[in-house]
Amino acid sequence: MLKGKKIVLGITGGIAAYKSAELTREFIKKEAFVRVIMTKNATEFITPLTLQTLSGHPVFTDMYAPLTDFDMAHISLAEYADVILIAPATANIIGKIASGLADDILTTTVMATKAPVLICPAMNVNMYNNAVVKENISRLTALGYLFMVPGYGELACKAEGYGRLPEIPDIVEELESILTPKDLKGEKILVTAGPTREPFDPVRYITNYSSGKMGYALAIAAKRRGAHVTLISGPTALSTPRDIKFIPVASAVDMRDAVMEHLDSATVVIKAAAVADYRPSLRSASKIKKGGGGLDLQLERNPDIILEVGRKKGNRILVGFAVETENLVENARSKMKKKNMDIIVANDVTKKGAGFGYDTNIIKIISADGKIENVPLMSKMAVADRILDRVKKIITSRQSAPRRRPAFRDR
Ligand code: PMT
Repeated sequence: MLKGKKIVLGITGGIAAYKSAELTREFIKKEAFVRVIMTKNATEFITPLTLQTLSGHPVFTDMYAPLTDFDMAHISLAEYADVILIAPATANIIGKIASGLADDILTTTVMATKAPVLICPAMNVNMYNNAVVKENISRLTALGYLFMVPGYGELACKAEGYGRLPEIPDIVEELESILTPKDLKGEKILVTAGPTREPFDPVRYITNYSSGKMGYALAIAAKRRGAHVTLISGPTALSTPRDIKFIPVASAVDMRDAVMEHLDSATVVIKAAAVADYRPSLRSASKIKKGGGGLDLQLERNPDIILEVGRKKGNRILVGFAVETENLVENARSKMKKKNMDIIVANDVTKKGAGFGYDTNIIKIISADGKIENVPLMSKMAVADRILDRVKKIITSRQSAPRRRPAFRDR
């Protein structure tokens, strides 16, 4: 979460400098603290006053300007930062940092910091592809500086290619990832999300109200915490999360096949998808025409994916979900037992703000050892972290469980 984090935003002189205003707004909306440094060239593209107004603090443009609330600006800013973001970053600033130059307030701050530095290049495509720029980026990457690949598209200079500042939500997500402790590093987490679609002719299908938000939140939160994440998703309107292996599917049978294909490599399986229990027995090859009367649809059972995973799970941790409208805990517990889950997340979809479609959820996390954790109304991202905290606890308890002593052997 960016809330309460201290971001030092360095802006350099490129046409994308105007987007730094939107970035600053986004950080402030997320309740981060933002201090802005602008190079002299950046001030030709956007005024310090704009950034001062949006960040709520004076902007640093000059090493020798009279001090405001920081003692020695570059050192204090370097120590203050939880993260330094340079966006947009020109070929010039990348070259200066790579060469160890520190001749202005931005380069001296970068030189003096121990915080992670994320650099978002934005420039003409030929400049970005220039061998010197590429070499500087490689050199800085090897030294631990973090880079985002620029976006593809039409550039301000009318050329087309890589060179656009990455989209603002992508930069925000990258910072969230950088600032999240990596307590799930080494885990391979398979998440299912969204609804399934069960067609009965080429233009119609049976489905449910799942938006995919809960499953995507789990995938993103697990990725931020350092896990390698595979997301198998039914059709949703959500954008594909970055840095996650994404496998789109449509029907329950497709989802089952994808889950089984990726099960071997997973250490944790989280089944947040709302899988249709039934599918039409027949699928007409052409659109079914209206007749005078009604239409009878014969349904047959879909595979129970989690039941099959439960049988084959071995040492994997299996997390299931339950949508219930009555007897929430009893029904969820019985599903957990029958399907060999380690945790079941019960959402009471009769409550406002819980379950399908909302950005929030209200859940009970029930573990196989009988513990129940009540998680009140909160965002699906925060709910996802609560579920992953429980997964982490199981991982830790398994790691610290006393190993059996090797049997004494007489020589
Ligand atoms: O997608 P959102 O709009 O954010 O909404 C989130 C959610 C309500 C869909 C999610 O939080 C949730 O509860 N998902 C599971 C819904 C569901 O299918 O519940 P169930 O009680 O029918 O299924 C129990 C478990 O078995 C689930 O983990 C489900 O993925 C799994 N299942 C169900 C049927 C089936 N054929 N195969 C399965 O694997």
